[in-house]
Amino acid sequence: METMQRNQQLTSVVVCSAEELKPGQRKLVSVDGVEIAMVNVDGQLYAFRNRCPHQGVEMIYGPVTGAMLPSDPGEFNYGFDNQIIRCPLHGWEFDMKTGKSLFNPEKVSIGSYEVQEVDGSIVLKLKRVPSKISLKDFRCIH
Ligand code: FES
Repeated sequence: METMQRNQQLTSVVVCSAEELKPGQRKLVSVDGVEIAMVNVDGQLYAFRNRCPHQGVEMIYGPVTGAMLPSDPGEFNYGFDNQIIRCPLHGWEFDMKTGKSLFNPEKVSIGSYEVQEVDGSIVLKLKRVPSKISLKDFRCIH
């Protein structure tokens, strides 16, 4: 993996080619021992910590979904379509954009990372220069 540049206190790291993370696909990367899940949902990229804060389950195995929004009695409003990752064990839900939980966003979060496609590469932005970064194998049915 290649460290591209340090910009605004973030370090850009090329994790894989865009061909390796097409729409509908997921990738798992280890950065200095911290696992980061990367998800491509219809071309929108998300990256977040792979551990659920409840009991440590791997979030990369969770389904991507939306959520019912607060609404008046008798109303049913759906939102965040394809922006929510649900823990595969007990169902805690997190906004993949911010990493924050839906039920207690200020206190419970998995954390999120900036990720984007740049010239055919998937680039992850990190707060510090990693000493070791590697892709990890996983099997996912989603
Ligand atoms: S381990 Fe994730 S909600 Fe329980």
